[in-house]
Formats: sequence, structure tokens, C-alpha cells
Amino acid sequence: MYNKKTIEDVAVAGKKVLVRCDFNVPLKDGKITSDKRIVEALPTIKYLLAQGAKVILCSHMGKPKGEVNPKYSLAPVAARLTELLGQTVELANDIVGEDAKAKAAALKEGQAMLLENVRFDAREEKNDPEFAKELASMAEVYVNDAFGTAHRAHATTAGVADYLPAVCGYLIQKEIGIMGKALANPERPFVAILGGAKVKDKLNVINNLLTKVDTLIIGGGMAYTFLAAKGYGVGKSLLDEEKIDYCKDMMKKAEEKGVKLLLPVDTTVCAGFPDPIDAPVETKNVSADAIPADMEGLDIGEKTMELYAEAAKSAKTVVWNGPMGVFENPTLAKGTIAVAKALAESEATTIVGGGDSAAACEQLGFADRITHISTGGGASLEFLEGLELPGIACLQDK
Ligand code: 3PG
Repeated sequence: MYNKKTIEDVAVAGKKVLVRCDFNVPLKDGKITSDKRIVEALPTIKYLLAQGAKVILCSHMGKPKGEVNPKYSLAPVAARLTELLGQTVELANDIVGEDAKAKAAALKEGQAMLLENVRFDAREEKNDPEFAKELASMAEVYVNDAFGTAHRAHATTAGVADYLPAVCGYLIQKEIGIMGKALANPERPFVAILGGAKVKDKLNVINNLLTKVDTLIIGGGMAYTFLAAKGYGVGKSLLDEEKIDYCKDMMKKAEEKGVKLLLPVDTTVCAGFPDPIDAPVETKNVSADAIPADMEGLDIGEKTMELYAEAAKSAKTVVWNGPMGVFENPTLAKGTIAVAKALAESEATTIVGGGDSAAACEQLGFADRITHISTGGGASLEFLEGLELPGIACLQDK
């Protein structure tokens, strides 16, 4: 487990502090549709401002591939930060250029500014040392609070830590604290629910969780490869033939370790994948061992929803990552809704690992009743895999 220095372990008063956040928020027509990542960064920013630090915020947005592209400007984020902090957060029109340097030099104690999208410079994703050095030259302390980007070894998430005292912010501290405890020392029974389309995206997470949990529940598209590994026909459902042996190995490993591995006992099938994704569909509920050859399984079935909800409710710790079906389609969202609802109703410590399952909890209005919804998608998955996150590993140990 990590034991990293935090913002409370370094002197920041009167100092220029470079703070990497994950402000990669969803935008529609230039408007922020969920400001969760900005709100979650506020405790760190407010603490630094209250200490009299001069705060230089930075983040990426989207994948502009090293080129300046106004579509990915952080202007909407600067505006939202200004509202949330109740003080102007100026946006520099560059990253390490004249404007950024002038604005940083002019900062007064207790003021914050934002650099433009760090991925407008190709050197960011290459973790270029010269770029990291230039960023570091603008500040005296580096704080990483971008949990959502902590699985990337980029200049602003890791490289800059080579040149400045480097500590974590409250968000990273919270994320690794809650998820770390769940993995290292969970209250049992510990149940993990994994969904999502492909087995190949979850190979290591399944393998790692099998050494930790009491029950592992599989849903989503990847469940069909497990059903195929059991010898069932899966019709036109998503099937990763190359991973059938892997699924067999995981079933064997679960048995050896005494872990209950729950697979769907029934499934919701359609004639084909909806096009567009939210188009009306006709569905049928069939037993998991009787999927018709001309049908495609696109959600867990009704009995499975009950089975999975029951397992979640009787647990003491639940970790969930990945939707149970095509939740963008209202008819095929029922399995994902059932799991989200079960977590909301559970007395257990409930942890939702970012991405689609987090969005589902938020859209359904269950977010307040979940113990912790991670701000990381890929990052939370890599954390659950037991991988070292470069954005955290680079920080000073206590
Ligand atoms: C995310 O949204 O998962 C993070 O902001 C990381 O973004 P990336 O996958 O573009 O690195």
C-alpha cells in the first residue's frame, strides 16, 4: 500500500505550487455535463489557498494529440472553478509560454490560475524531461491530485516530480485510502462485481481480485465468454474465443481458492445489437444454457439480477466496475440499474470504480448512497489490478 506525503506534510505558505488535477470532464456543446472531477479537486485547492499558496493548476482535457485545438480548451473549467471558488481563476493561453509564466509570476498569495490543456504540447504524453523541467521552473512544490490520470506516466503526472518536492492532494489520498483498504483489509464478505464488454480488458483485475474476494460476480458482455467456457452455446453474443481457456483457468482458480464465482443464470436476448444504441428493442429472457443460436445476449436476466442484488446486499464490502448490459439503451439497462440499486440499498462499504458504472450511479440518482465513487476510470481499474500507478509512485514517501 502507498504511504505518500500529502499537502499537509510540506510547507506551502507563500510558495508557488503546481497542482496536477484531472479536469478531463465530459462536455456537450462546450458545457460541462458533470463537474464531479472539479468538485472533488476543491478540498486540495481550498486548503492550498487558505495556506497562502500561489496555486498553478494544470490538467489535460480529451486527446488533442499534442496540438492546440480550441475544442479541448480548459476555458469551461476555468469558468466553473471561478464559480465554485468564488474568486477569479484566470486561464493562461499557453502551458509553459510567455502568458503562463507572466500569470504565474503575478500570482498573489491565496490566488489560483489554470494553465491551458497540457496535452496541447506533444511533450506532455512523451513525459519529456525538458518539458517537465520547464513546468517545474514555474513552481516550488508539486502536488498531484489527478487520480483519474495517475495511471499515465506523463510530464505533469509523473515527470515533474523529478524536479520538485512532490506530494499528493486530498483526492488521491482519499481514493487510495478507501480502495487500498478494501483490497488490503476488507470487511468480509467482500464481493466484487465486474462487467463491461470484453474479457481482455479485465484479465488482470479478475486474476488479482480472485486472491482477495469471497465472491466474484461476472456480468456484461464478458460473461458470455465465461458461459462458453462452461460449454454453453452463446448464440450471437459477444464471444472472445481466444480467452475461453483463460476463463476456464479463472473458474478453476476460484474453486481452488474457495471463491464463489457467480455467472449469469439467465440473460436478456435480442435479435441483434440496437442501432442506434438507444433504439427500441424487443427482448426475451432465456436461461443462460439456452441462448438461441440466432439471438444476442445484451443484459443479465431477471433471476440473475436478483441473485447479484442479493449477493451485494449481504456483503460487507462491495467493489463494482463495469455495466451489466448495454446500459445506454433503456430496455437493456435493467441489469446495471438493479446492481446500482442493490449497492445503494446495501449496508456494506460500496465502492464504484469510475467510468460507465460511476456514470450509471450518478444518472440514476444513487450517488449519495454509495460510499465511494472513484473519479478514475482506467486508473481505478489499474488500481484494482494491483498495478503500480506512476502518478502516485513518483511522490515522496512519508
Ligand atoms: C480518464 O478520463 O480516464 C482520464 O482523464 C485519463 O484520460 P486518458 O485515458 O485520455 O489518459
